[in-house]
Amino acid sequence: MATGHQARTDLKGPHVSANGIASRLVFDYRNATAAAVGEQHGVTDGELDDIGGVVREQHERIDAEHSSQVQRWQDLPDNAAIADEIAGFAREARERYTDFILIGIGGSSLGAIATIQALTHPFRNLLPPERRVGPRFFVLDNPDPEKVTATLETVDLSRTLVNVVSKSGQTAETAANFLVVRDAMYQALGANQARKQIVATTDPETGLLRQMADQEGYRTFPVPPGVDGRQTVLSAVGLIPAALAGVDIHAMLAGAAAMRARASSPDVRQNPAYLLATLSVIADQKHEKSMLVTMPYADALFGVSDWFRQLWAESLGKKLSIDNEVVFAGQTPIKALGAIDQHSQIQLYTEGPNDKLIQLIAVESYRDTVNIPNPPADMPELGYFNGGELGQLLDRERLATSWALTKAERPNLTITIPTIDAAILGEFFYLFQLQTVMAGALYAVNPFGQPGVEAGKNATYALMGRSGYEDLKNELLATPEDASSYMLRP
Ligand code: PA5
Repeated sequence: MATGHQARTDLKGPHVSANGIASRLVFDYRNATAAAVGEQHGVTDGELDDIGGVVREQHERIDAEHSSQVQRWQDLPDNAAIADEIAGFAREARERYTDFILIGIGGSSLGAIATIQALTHPFRNLLPPERRVGPRFFVLDNPDPEKVTATLETVDLSRTLVNVVSKSGQTAETAANFLVVRDAMYQALGANQARKQIVATTDPETGLLRQMADQEGYRTFPVPPGVDGRQTVLSAVGLIPAALAGVDIHAMLAGAAAMRARASSPDVRQNPAYLLATLSVIADQKHEKSMLVTMPYADALFGVSDWFRQLWAESLGKKLSIDNEVVFAGQTPIKALGAIDQHSQIQLYTEGPNDKLIQLIAVESYRDTVNIPNPPADMPELGYFNGGELGQLLDRERLATSWALTKAERPNLTITIPTIDAAILGEFFYLFQLQTVMAGALYAVNPFGQPGVEAGKNATYALMGRSGYEDLKNELLATPEDASSYMLRP
């Protein structure tokens, strides 16, 4: 086994954003290295040394692209003007509305869901208004008739704010859900009032939603041009729902800026985003770890692993390299939750195929402390709970899992946060986005765009009868001669 002497286990540092917020994430990657899990499964010092030069070059390219307005997502933490406008809008809206419906899908909803799940009361919709900050929160992402019906049955439309979010302005699921909700609003309130209760977040100039918003006079907020949907969490897309739920969006942006300051080094061993990207790509390409599990030990962070899952999958899962060679790149992202998945997934992760890198997220101080009452004296088997606390149990389970995975030569790393707050969430959002961009560079694919979902989108348009898609519809509906041989009917 390699010694792993260069494997820094602590990348702390005085990385402070312009407004004084410092990065607080700690990264421990020893268990992903050969020093801990052996050379077959762990990243070696030599591999990290070898890739350091490529990372440096790609860092310079990404920086140059940023200067020429390509990597514009990096500027979102600086948009104080839009954050001020949103905070003001949300302050008024919180007074007026009891319910809020977000209509959007993929990058247009996952960031908001992750933020609200992380930073607000887990049962906020059930709390009485005087104990809840902001309106109840409902998301219509899937065009599932049962969920849409249930949502419309639950909200009070006269006191509902609707935020329809679509960068392209023509996503079928969002457009359909919006037409249904808009119609319900118009019927219940009349067109004039309904229009005042609809806010559209979309491209400032183009798209069908932009056109409709302008025609009908909705208030609008911009999806910044040059930024993919899955990079918009720190724009109006993610900030409006967050601010409505009482999240300190300025702190979230400051946290992102602190991570940006910290992740500005070209050195793979100093830049946490580049380090995580490199560990994943080496694990995939040299050690057959084709899956990346993100496993927070906090219910509140499960949405962050769901948001990251989309980011990693859509950005890296690409057929063609930047040189147009067929590469079928990507690493399958998996979301898991500690300790629940210790009773579901960990058996597989520990003894099944050794094909995963596992990134655990540890929380030093949970926002609540719950002491475990001493068990009955005649149950000495439970005596180990004496003086115990739930957060302590959860975190020790995390440590125990990391140890057990390592013993079984399963590479894993741990990101530790002091607690869960808005600035920490901003750090995560920036970190994971830069990690993904660097991973794209190392796979030599373009992390932006999602050409692989176009075929399915076009087929949906064809099946729904959209004009211009007639040939595709005929192709789709043509029945193969042997189709009946593969059908099982009652
Ligand atoms: O990351 C992306 O770009 C996608 O996941 C989009 O967010 C998703 O397809 C929704 O697109 P739109 O915002 O155009 O409705």
